[in-house]
Amino acid sequence: MIVKTKFNASRKLLDRAVKEYSKFDNLKTSLNKPTGDFFYDPWVIKDEFQNTVWSSILKSLPVEQGEARVIILKNGTNYQSHADIDDRYHLNIQATQSYLIDLDREEMFKTVPDLIWYEMDTSSIHTAANFGEIDRVQIVVRKLLKRHYIKNFVSISIIPEGVLPRYHFDNIISPFLNKLVKSKSLTNFRYANNKVTFDLDNSRVSEFKNIIPKEFIFTVNSI
Ligand SMILES: [Fe+2]
Repeated sequence: MIVKTKFNASRKLLDRAVKEYSKFDNLKTSLNKPTGDFFYDPWVIKDEFQNTVWSSILKSLPVEQGEARVIILKNGTNYQSHADIDDRYHLNIQATQSYLIDLDREEMFKTVPDLIWYEMDTSSIHTAANFGEIDRVQIVVRKLLKRHYIKNFVSISIIPEGVLPRYHFDNIISPFLNKLVKSKSLTNFRYANNKVTFDLDNSRVSEFKNIIPKEFIFTVNSI
């Protein structure tokens, strides 16, 4: 689920980040801003983070970057199970007894501040849990989606409805979306106003119809 990249930050930068992160009011703080499409186009550092420890750390990951956030997971807390359409790069700033957990394979990965940028395949159902005594702090960078040419496609829209719609979307739909992107069967993904839209290879539509919760509003528009 998670593999090392060849990219590293320095101990000096990590030590500075440990001192700086507590200035953030929120558990998730975006360090950069979009230049075009949220999921497909590179993001650039926000003005207020130019020439800070955060811009220096992001430079240690020399790839085109999507949204980059400082994410704090308080001690004694965890996230609900989910998958994501986009894979992520992770750098651990601070953690003790803290883990990423692949719930599909029932495997745990300890998150330690080892200076290494990791790449995480987020198509598995996963969570993170902090059993330690301090905040777990990470920088998490969205890997940009690639646009694909699909010869025969339909445009799909999904509006999650019913009980716990977000949970059902994240656990049933997102794993499939992530894999469809990787198999070049899905493009033009958008999320706005509680509605998800994308173009899907015709040959994959019936698989999609089989998994969609009956409470969701699901529309297929042939082009
Ligand atoms: Fe995730």
